[in-house]
Amino acid sequence: MKTTRHQSASRPAPPGELAGLRARLAEAEEALRAIRGGEVDSVMVAGKEGSQVFTLDGAEHAYRILIESMNEGALTLTADGMILYANQCFARMVKRPLEQVLGSSFHHLLSAADQATLRPLLKRAEPSGPKIQVLLEAGDGSQLPAQISSCALATNGAESESFGLVVTDMTEARHDEEMLRALTRQVVQVQEAERGRVANELRVNITQLLYVILGRCQALAEKLPAGDGSACGDTTKIKEMISRTAEEVERIWRSLWSHELDKLGLVPALEMTNAEFVKRTGVALQMDCSALDERLPAEAELVLYRILQKALNNVERHARARNVTVHLAKPDGCIQLTIKDDGIGFDPDHPANGKGRQGLGLLRMRERAASVGGALSVKSVPRTGTEIEVLIPLPLKAPQ
Ligand SMILES: Nc1ncnc2c1ncn2[C@@H]1O[C@H](COP(=O)(O)OP(=O)(O)O)[C@@H](O)[C@H]1O
Ligand SMILES: [Mg+2]
Repeated sequence: MKTTRHQSASRPAPPGELAGLRARLAEAEEALRAIRGGEVDSVMVAGKEGSQVFTLDGAEHAYRILIESMNEGALTLTADGMILYANQCFARMVKRPLEQVLGSSFHHLLSAADQATLRPLLKRAEPSGPKIQVLLEAGDGSQLPAQISSCALATNGAESESFGLVVTDMTEARHDEEMLRALTRQVVQVQEAERGRVANELRVNITQLLYVILGRCQALAEKLPAGDGSACGDTTKIKEMISRTAEEVERIWRSLWSHELDKLGLVPALEMTNAEFVKRTGVALQMDCSALDERLPAEAELVLYRILQKALNNVERHARARNVTVHLAKPDGCIQLTIKDDGIGFDPDHPANGKGRQGLGLLRMRERAASVGGALSVKSVPRTGTEIEVLIPLPLKAPQ
């Protein structure tokens, strides 16, 4: 057992003993440091009635060593945010001396918006609260992205008096997220360029070739003897088939290339995609895009346009739906696209296609949303239908 000796502050110091006082102060600071570091498990305090030994509870002692050696910030706070205890790691995170951190308000380390997010957590007496993301103001003026998990420490069924916080430095995680987003963005850009190239080849080569075949077919039909009804009928059918193929190539070209989008803007492009879907499938579609009356950044428009195309493609191939609704809204600080059908639905945790393989469509939709810092969620209930929701924060973050 290691014991540290400490003079009680209640004995008045004789005047003129400055050096002695300094020595006692240094001793007290060392004792505090040792207690915090878990180097001692008892404290001897010399008072009027002689020396008294305060032993630290064995379990508490072990916990303190654990908390002081962990690589995350650990704090206890009062319900109004005063810091009762903080470990050294937290002091290092916020680049402030521990003495300055202890007794100060945790709220002073947060922006007004983050304070508003934290406050309700310090009111609810839950044994284990949710996690929130904040920016901590460090002593040198920099900001540290951090995740805070909170828990009530003394509930007793009544209002909690103190809270424990674990603060995780998210700098590296944020950096990795940014890298991933930049990579996804590049993948999406490469895909888009490839689509443009294929669309061009289709239009220039295949469509032209089809029209040449159509012309030859026409010339052949003119050479046929007038009385050969069956041959004439066949050439007419072939001409019809060629025209339909040319139309289909035109449709594929338009869907591959974001032609309408570039020319007309998001809402008309969505309307055209929807109209084509209705014409092709006969499924009823209701669209409400009235919330959007301005152009969005080109990248965001392209993401929403492509996601709608893929979602409608899934409805056509898998849903057996009768009705689809497409809704574009502008809740605070973001743009939201929802595509809902009343089809057969599926299990979103296991989106296997008929052959037992996982398709790439939903994955690509997620990637597209993530490439502009957004998110895509899928809600689906078997025999009830599917809802795809895309949320993109605006303004878009500049690429890194
Ligand atoms: N709207 C929908 N209605 C019913 N099932 C769907 C719907 N969208 C997706 N699915 C299911 O999820 C699976 C995965 O979809 P997706 O990732 O787009 O791949 P793919 O369309 O190539 O199969 C589909 O095979 C289908 O089983
Ligand atoms: Mg698909």
